[in-house]
Amino acid sequence: MIRRILTYPDPELKKKSAPVTIINEKIIELVQDMAETMYDAPGVGLAAAQIGVHQRVIVIDISPKGEKPDLIVAINPVIVHAEGSSCDEEGCLSVPNYGASVKRHASVVVKALNLEGEEVTYRAEGLLAIAFQHEIDHLDGVLFVDHLSPLKKDIFRKKYRQMLEQSQVDG
Ligand code: NI
Repeated sequence: MIRRILTYPDPELKKKSAPVTIINEKIIELVQDMAETMYDAPGVGLAAAQIGVHQRVIVIDISPKGEKPDLIVAINPVIVHAEGSSCDEEGCLSVPNYGASVKRHASVVVKALNLEGEEVTYRAEGLLAIAFQHEIDHLDGVLFVDHLSPLKKDIFRKKYRQMLEQSQVDG
């Protein structure tokens, strides 16, 4: 089922998510809904918090458009090692129509559980490394715009408020 994606400044996006203690039918259904919602949007990643479920679950698929899907399901993901730095333009399904460069680690090692409850280790770089860091941030109530400098964040807030007001006028 496609779920509604919460958007900034919804306070639900600022809440910290709790670890998953048992992988049951409910979690499997949640993951299915998250994947469906992400592909429908479309986006390259989604955290459960973005649909208002505060459990530590993320889905990612960075496979190029038109190629076969390559879904990563990461439950209770933890960055156990991070190296280097990169600065690339990011966007977020919860902050529609806005992009900004964010400084991240260039490569990360992530440990997580899969849907079978097995521990999986991902060694990620490039877009996948960014996606892991971006989605894990969501589990801690952090949006990519929270990484902007105070000045840039201020500009973002103003621009975004204008955009929201404009869309209310239009719609
Ligand atoms: Ni996001």
